[in-house]
Amino acid sequence: MKHNAQQSKDATSRRSFLRKGLAVGGAGTIGAGLLANGFNGLPVFAEVGSASLTRGDVAILRFLAAIEIIESDLWQQYNELGGIQDSEVPGGSGSAAYTKALQVLDGDMSQYIHDNTEDEFSHMRFINEYLASQGAEPVNLDRFRTLPSSRATGAQQIGRLTNLMQLTVDTSWWSRYRSRTRNPDLGDTFPQAIPSLSTGKFPAIPRNDGDLTPANHIQAIANTAGFHFGFIEQGGTSLYPTLAQGVTNLEVLRILLSIGPTETQHFQTWQDKAGNAPALTDPTNGLVFPNLNASPFGGEDFQTNLIMPEPTVFLSRKFPTVSIIRPTEIGGSGGAVATVRAFTADGLFIGQSRELLAVLSGLAVQADAARRG
Ligand SMILES: [Fe+2]
Repeated sequence: MKHNAQQSKDATSRRSFLRKGLAVGGAGTIGAGLLANGFNGLPVFAEVGSASLTRGDVAILRFLAAIEIIESDLWQQYNELGGIQDSEVPGGSGSAAYTKALQVLDGDMSQYIHDNTEDEFSHMRFINEYLASQGAEPVNLDRFRTLPSSRATGAQQIGRLTNLMQLTVDTSWWSRYRSRTRNPDLGDTFPQAIPSLSTGKFPAIPRNDGDLTPANHIQAIANTAGFHFGFIEQGGTSLYPTLAQGVTNLEVLRILLSIGPTETQHFQTWQDKAGNAPALTDPTNGLVFPNLNASPFGGEDFQTNLIMPEPTVFLSRKFPTVSIIRPTEIGGSGGAVATVRAFTADGLFIGQSRELLAVLSGLAVQADAARRG
């Protein structure tokens, strides 16, 4: 971490140097010696790259870095209690009762949680290091790691960016990917798979060891996590292709096109596992998980084995239906501002300072404003 901090400081000073150089007389004023040997001991590649990235590309990468930091923070909390704690994803020691309840959704749940967590950390580190390599400022949200950890046995006691203990989970992604006639980019709306989870506030991790019983309470917490995993990763699934349309540089486009589909792989997995969440009512708070294969649910909008996207309308209702990621409209419900809004409505930032939301919103507005060329 120390190394990163130093590197980002160097990157910042290098950037302001370049700005000044460019302001005075364009790239030609940068000395031949600098181009040959690099600046601050860094390779020449970085200098060339920093001149080639547009403000829009930097804005897109910086917003994605912020989102990956947030994802890493929340996935870390899930992994500490319900994943696999090892050298790849260190921290925490697991909660046996929570892990067991998650495994009702799939026997491999702990491995999937671990791997999703590792992926988000890798996305966060890569995008920030790439920004620094291009002379752009990486994103650091460490000063906002102020929220309390779960008090359940197995969680580390450290400051967090996100709150997983008062979630209001939008589960309309479930019916959105099952609809053959509607698309959010065409103004359509979608019913909730778990209506009572989309109102009220529910924990997705045990808040303390008191949450480990009764059985239907800890299972409801695991079910909530199962649907929350899908909510988070369908967000990334739309965010990357949406922002990719505003990218100018081919290498930056390659980054978005290479990371984005891994979010979709996560989403596909979580959509399958959420369908295994057992129907139940939490006796402590009345949260209901219905049988999605039975009336009034069931059918194409809810049937649990329809985990691949149903073909739907795209661009215009005059075209034949097509199997697609949805939404993907620039500035639409899959854009950067919409992502911050959705994460906020999810309850992830309950207890956070307004400053964090201001920082995220500022990054989001700039990312949505990016245009090719
Ligand atoms: Fe990610």
